[in-house]
Amino acid sequence: MPERVRHGAAIGADLARLDGPDKVTGAARYAADFRLDGLLHAVMAVSGIARGRVTGLDVAAAEAHPGVVRVMTPENVPKLARSPDAKDGPFGFKLDLLQDEAVRYANQPIAVVIAETLEAATEGARLLAPRYATEAVRVGLDGEPVVPEAVGPGAPARAGYGDVAAGLGAAQTCIEATYETAAQYHNALEPHAAVASWEGDHLTLYTPSQALALATARIAGLFGIPPGNIHIVSHYLGGGFGSKGMVTSPQILAILAARLVGRPVKLVTRREQMFGPVGHRAATRQTLKLGAGADGTLTAFDHHTLTQTSRYDDFIEPSGIISRNLYASPALASTHEAVRVDIATPIFMRAPGEASGSVAIESALDELAAELNLDPLELRLRNYAEVEPVSKKPFSSKALRDCYAQGAERFGWASRPTAPRQMRDADGLLVGWGMGTATYPASMFQAEARAVVRADGTALVETAQHDMGQGAWTSLAQIAADGLGLPLESVTLSIGHNRLPNGGLAGGSTGTATAGMALHNAGQAVIAALAELAVNDPASPLYGAGNAGVAAEGGRLARRDDPARSESFSEILARAGRDSVEARGTGAADPAAKKAYAMHAHGAVFAEVLVDPDLGQIRVSRLVGAFAAGRIVNPRLVRSQYYGGMIWGVSFALHEHAAMDARTGRFLNNNLAEYHLPVNADIPAMEAILVEEADPHVNPLGIKGVGEIGITGTAGAIANAVWHATGVRVRDIPITLDKLL
Ligand code: MOS
Repeated sequence: MPERVRHGAAIGADLARLDGPDKVTGAARYAADFRLDGLLHAVMAVSGIARGRVTGLDVAAAEAHPGVVRVMTPENVPKLARSPDAKDGPFGFKLDLLQDEAVRYANQPIAVVIAETLEAATEGARLLAPRYATEAVRVGLDGEPVVPEAVGPGAPARAGYGDVAAGLGAAQTCIEATYETAAQYHNALEPHAAVASWEGDHLTLYTPSQALALATARIAGLFGIPPGNIHIVSHYLGGGFGSKGMVTSPQILAILAARLVGRPVKLVTRREQMFGPVGHRAATRQTLKLGAGADGTLTAFDHHTLTQTSRYDDFIEPSGIISRNLYASPALASTHEAVRVDIATPIFMRAPGEASGSVAIESALDELAAELNLDPLELRLRNYAEVEPVSKKPFSSKALRDCYAQGAERFGWASRPTAPRQMRDADGLLVGWGMGTATYPASMFQAEARAVVRADGTALVETAQHDMGQGAWTSLAQIAADGLGLPLESVTLSIGHNRLPNGGLAGGSTGTATAGMALHNAGQAVIAALAELAVNDPASPLYGAGNAGVAAEGGRLARRDDPARSESFSEILARAGRDSVEARGTGAADPAAKKAYAMHAHGAVFAEVLVDPDLGQIRVSRLVGAFAAGRIVNPRLVRSQYYGGMIWGVSFALHEHAAMDARTGRFLNNNLAEYHLPVNADIPAMEAILVEEADPHVNPLGIKGVGEIGITGTAGAIANAVWHATGVRVRDIPITLDKLL
């Protein structure tokens, strides 16, 4: 077992965001806040059809409008070094950069109007009055499906083991049910914005990014310039959720517009334009076939996902991947198919795959429990996976039993009647209780960091990580401080632009563990360098202690065998005649541990809903989540991540639904008035319990990610609570009152 890292006072501290005051006073500058000299404003014109060709644009009318500088169309868009349709790896999404007149989805960018003011650009875009040659459109899930090779960013489309048919045949009780989940469109508070400025072939770009290194490489490839010529600034993001993991068409169009007019250009995606060019979570139709013995032990688990993707690119929502690590079963199948339709390509969205898969699986488990007349939590305990079902690997840690127990206790689950429609509140509303299991992989990408300890005893630590709002400015500083043996206030963290060491991704719940390990290792390397200076210096109280014999704490190095013999970092540097000492560190998964163990965070979510028996109105009245995700870097920030995930779970279960006109492929509700999201009044008393878990294998700090797990389990728990309140099983998510009546 690898040695676990000792940590200081900063990790685990319940701190508010260090950047909070800057955010609430407006000092924090987001991409669209950067005003450069000579800045022009760009507005996209987007397609009003979903398939066909643009046959005419009234460019002359737009350019005649006062303030309009240029209209960028396929005829004058600057040439790229690489086709926007070229793919470079699993993150190489195709882009729509005015490469031709073809239209492949509604709201696809078809022109960009560049003007002295936002108002002029907006009016110019309206004056373009596009004409189209329209082709017949197909959207929805019906159609000839294809079996993809891979789903998500490279998971196999099919996985499983054992004889599922035999398992179903031998079962005492079987359920088969098909669930639909609606498409959800990325709508972070901050839409995709970019301020682009060229000087020769050097580009400065202010834009939100969850993956600065990937963005730099993508832009370098498209424009045929060295990555070193590109400076991307992304200090703050107003949310990301996967849509800012890859650069999107609007961001590149801003760069192209700046190149075309030779002046800095700002382009902010309008809210209604978020529906299309920046990605979405695809709709799914999932069929679950579960077989169980009389005691509730599963005999077979079959999870088939039908989803949709675009006609021109390949992202497949991987709803089935979660069934591969969730419940024990002697036979299991997890398969995917997709239909190609006239929509924009789906993309990652918070817990991509797990979120949509979880709601179907947890609903099916609930149906099976009802069929068996068994408590739904008991059913899950009887099928607890002691090893990861498909890989058969042991879990690096799995405190799921504790999550079930602590969540159930806090919620009061034990007094739940098994049958539905048994409880009413004082106002006569139907009360229902449901639960679901939460899980999300604990993965790492790769990151580098640099740490410098200066003569005054303070430190600078750097890595190109990203703060989407989750609190990276704080949690990464906490990890760095402990890695350096310094108090938090002595450490300055620099993140959020691409000239820093590659910080990996803020995605897949990997950011804190990956960049955190890089910062930790860089800090440890600096301490080793300081120790080297001290132990070899006869004037030092540490002389002769040897590297292994000293420890850093509070900005001092002390002998382990005699802590009274110590000296400060400043004293060591002063005597050595050095201004500073610096070192680098890397954060990455340990391949041997990854090979030996399955690594996941786990949780259990319990929900109470109130349903009006006459009107069908549904309200979530209580939500309790209990999550185990290894070492907790900052309880306040982690709880906030769980709350955010659980709120999205409420949205998934009851609100979010991007509706499309099947005849035209156009959106019916691409605005935040009609694309429903929960508001404060929809969000009940929530509680997130931090279940203790020590994981010696995920990484030496023992950190798992927390960004995505909260959405898993939650939507299913709410759907199950609706059934428990009403006795009506709605398999069409989101559950709205019309489906109850
Ligand atoms: Mo997340 S969908 O990896 O931002």
